[in-house]
Amino acid sequence: MSTSAPLLGSMRFGDWGARLSPAAVAGLLDAALDAGIDTLDLADIYGGHTTNALVGAAFALRPGLRARFGLVAKIGIVTLANPVNVRQVPFYDLSVEHLTRALDETFRTLGVNHVETLMLHRFDPRIDAAAVADWVRGEQARGRVGAFGVSNFGPEGIALFDGLLPVASHQIELSLGHWATLEDGTHAATTRRGAEVQAWSPLGGGDLLDPATPRGARLAPVLQSMAGEFGLDPAALLLRWAASLPRTRVVLGTSRIDRLHAGVEACATPLPRDAWYALWEAARGHPVP
Ligand SMILES: NC(=O)c1ccc[n+]([C@@H]2O[C@H](COP(=O)([O-])OP(=O)(O)OC[C@H]3O[C@@H](n4cnc5c(N)ncnc54)[C@H](OP(=O)(O)O)[C@@H]3O)[C@@H](O)[C@H]2O)c1
Repeated sequence: MSTSAPLLGSMRFGDWGARLSPAAVAGLLDAALDAGIDTLDLADIYGGHTTNALVGAAFALRPGLRARFGLVAKIGIVTLANPVNVRQVPFYDLSVEHLTRALDETFRTLGVNHVETLMLHRFDPRIDAAAVADWVRGEQARGRVGAFGVSNFGPEGIALFDGLLPVASHQIELSLGHWATLEDGTHAATTRRGAEVQAWSPLGGGDLLDPATPRGARLAPVLQSMAGEFGLDPAALLLRWAASLPRTRVVLGTSRIDRLHAGVEACATPLPRDAWYALWEAARGHPVP
């Protein structure tokens, strides 16, 4: 069994992280393709609604670059930056009205007219799944949307689309710092429907590598000892842990070219079961029952 290439996440490209220029983003995307990564994760809210435009500017600099990526575009969160948000609280809106506006805005900022996957970013308890499914099918028929995905939906949330619309992918938080999605049935509910799991924050946003954080301190000794055994660095072990799960691809969070190859390499081979459980046990602080 071999695992599959990670996606590259864009969350930290711009104002929420590395503040890369469009030329630097284009260089990072070129390097990602060289490393074997061909899927780019996006969301309208990243960088306070600025990162899609940054990626769009990178595409504009390099004709042909966009066509080499499958784009996963997430929409459905209303942030404080949105003028419709008069009460100034963040909220989720999966109404057809909001989704239509947000998809148009995604196309405008990225400078594209099609995304390979459209993903609902967060579960909205007020969702009308049948209305969303009708709307997505309409966008698919117009050629604007390829596959449909959800994110942070939980096992019952994803079930809402049963019999309405195939869900191709489910992006969930999953790492050695956060495994609730394994124990609450979310991961199994996703794979059971034939959908791909996309594990976000596989390094806990970098915290899991920092011995100054409680989670990082718990993991440091086992990561160090296993790193030697497998010839991998601690980050690669964390990525391999998540990528070893069935039908699971990790979403890489790095903005550094020199970390892409190691990320892909880490996900190419699953961990043996005993090593996988040893890491999980160290993260949990106690053995599985
Ligand atoms: N669906 C959702 O709700 C949701 C939520 C959050 C994120 N996401 C997606 O998931 C992606 C990944 O999330 P994340 O950024 O939190 O991922 P992550 O991989 O857990 O964290 C990435 C951070 O770790 C740092 N890092 C430190 N050492 C590293 C090493 N050796 N190798 C790689 N990175 C290292 C990176 O810095 P450098 O840049 O310096 O390498 C970066 O700041 C996001 O870009 C976004 O696309 C989705």
